[in-house]
Amino acid sequence: MKNDYVLVVLKPDVMAKGLMGHVFSRLSETGLELVAMKILSVSRELAEAHYHHLEGQAFYGDIIKYLQGKLHGQHKVVALVYAGKNAIAVCRDITGATNPEEAEPKTIRGSLGRITTKGVYENLLHVSSEKEEALREIKLWFTPEEIGSDIFPTKVEMIKSFKKKVWK
Ligand code: TYD
Repeated sequence: MKNDYVLVVLKPDVMAKGLMGHVFSRLSETGLELVAMKILSVSRELAEAHYHHLEGQAFYGDIIKYLQGKLHGQHKVVALVYAGKNAIAVCRDITGATNPEEAEPKTIRGSLGRITTKGVYENLLHVSSEKEEALREIKLWFTPEEIGSDIFPTKVEMIKSFKKKVWK
């Protein structure tokens, strides 16, 4: 594989606080290539699949609600795939530590994140933690058609009958 890939999700607090442009600028300054992007509402199924490794943690219920926008009354997130050398490390560096209070002040989480009075880390971004996880997450969030270039191997299957929403 020529490049490293990373899934970045701008969580609902980015949208609720009007920080999308700022966060985009910070990500653009990395020089990584944006290969996929979409805005979506996160279903419970997607949130649970995304955070499956954290099931059982005391904060699990809150992070599922958070990703679904139930803490912000703002149900959209923006999912992005970036490609480039050390894409994961580069994005995690500018994002900062999981706990916004421990994040370096100039990182995105350090400058703009907070811990709510209920103890939820509002840390603005999800960024894949390592290569295998990035691969799993990108395939979970995006279909091959939604990704600008053929970043992972694909296959073509004949689908006989399925329901699909189309324009009237
Ligand atoms: P995790 O995947 O460990 O961190 P990161 O997002 O930095 O890769 O955790 C997922 C989310 O869970 C994290 O963004 C915020 C939340 N979280 C808490 O609320 N409390 C905690 O103690 C931890 C470790 C995470």
